Amino acid sequence: LSAQAATTYIQADRMVDVVSGKLVEKPALVITDGRITSVGTQGSVAVPDGAARLDLTGMTILPGLIDMHVHLTGRHDMHGYEGLAESTGDETINGVIHAEKTLMAGFTAARNLGAAGYSDVALRRALAANRLNGPRLYVSGPSIGATGGHCDNNLLPPEYDAHSQGAADGPWGVVKKVREVKKYGADLIKICATGGVLSKGTQVGAQQLAQEEMDAIVAEAKRLGLKVAAHAHGTAGIKAAIRAGVDTVEHASFIDDEGIKLAKERGTYLSMDIYNTEYILSAGEAAGFLPESLAKERVVGKTQRESFSRAVKAGVKMVFGSDAGVYPHGDNGKQFSRMVQFGMTPLQAIQAATVNAADALGASADVGTLAVGRYGDLIAVKGDPLADISILEKVDVVVKGGDVVKGKP
Ligand code: ARG
Repeated sequence: LSAQAATTYIQADRMVDVVSGKLVEKPALVITDGRITSVGTQGSVAVPDGAARLDLTGMTILPGLIDMHVHLTGRHDMHGYEGLAESTGDETINGVIHAEKTLMAGFTAARNLGAAGYSDVALRRALAANRLNGPRLYVSGPSIGATGGHCDNNLLPPEYDAHSQGAADGPWGVVKKVREVKKYGADLIKICATGGVLSKGTQVGAQQLAQEEMDAIVAEAKRLGLKVAAHAHGTAGIKAAIRAGVDTVEHASFIDDEGIKLAKERGTYLSMDIYNTEYILSAGEAAGFLPESLAKERVVGKTQRESFSRAVKAGVKMVFGSDAGVYPHGDNGKQFSRMVQFGMTPLQAIQAATVNAADALGASADVGTLAVGRYGDLIAVKGDPLADISILEKVDVVVKGGDVVKGKP
């Protein structure tokens, strides 16, 4: 990397201001050494001497997108027993490939929620050192959950003595796990509050961590300055997680009116992966999904979409979380049109993947808006995403930290 100040002046036809919700005509911005140093309209923003110029005339720019729930080290075509053949080395290589795909889809930041062997920490380090192409990563390390629960490995008989690294029980057991996960480099904590669709032998609606365990996890995470994301499909588990004080609830499929009210009161974000169901049900057993998972999905997917509509209508805070890895990485943007189909305005869907996501990460000073001081992370598309959100499935230009990583003119 060059030691000189790298300055880029960017102009476009329109810019989505994700804070005001307005479309700004003829925007211009300057990125210096990776961060935005000036933003406004052409004419009001001076072109610095010696600046490189990126002319995006004809296009709309918006902040780089953020996916709050990905599994970069996981493969969409190796579920169930197939996945057992994957070593930590294999998963790390998956992560390298998928990080690039995610970035090319316009996601300049992502939260990785659950990876074995700290492959996600290795990936984050290599990305932060600019040794790889990919989004800025916020990673959880192994997901913490009860023995036999959704985040454990339940595929093998007892003689194999298989457990996931995040399996722990009891308030002090889970607290120790939080400390361990922090020790090995996680930025945040992921827990499994209820059963899931893709795990063997778990009831998707059943609560799997006791209130005391979740309270202990959140208290310890707060002491360590870490945010907590809770996988929770079931009604009781969702509410217990919100009461414990988690920052985001993932999936939230069977949230009831009381859960919606609690989320509003507590300011908890919901991260609902409502595109996922289409892939799971169409890829079926060929992708290795267990027959029991397909049966669970047939119930969960439909209810989750109804819950999403209710939560949007009630005004619960929402982030964009896709669970990519269950389905192909790079297809993250497909969820936008579903979010609009099930009740959001296009602007709300964009806010979920930008300004709201940054807030839920605790990273508003770095990502999520095109404002002075933030990283120079932006995307450009032809047309107006506020009129047709599906445009975000095909992002033409991606800029990360001022570098044009896709769509070089
Ligand atoms: N990882 C999640 C689980 O196994 C995926 C759920 C996908 N289904 C859905 N309708 N969102 O529970």
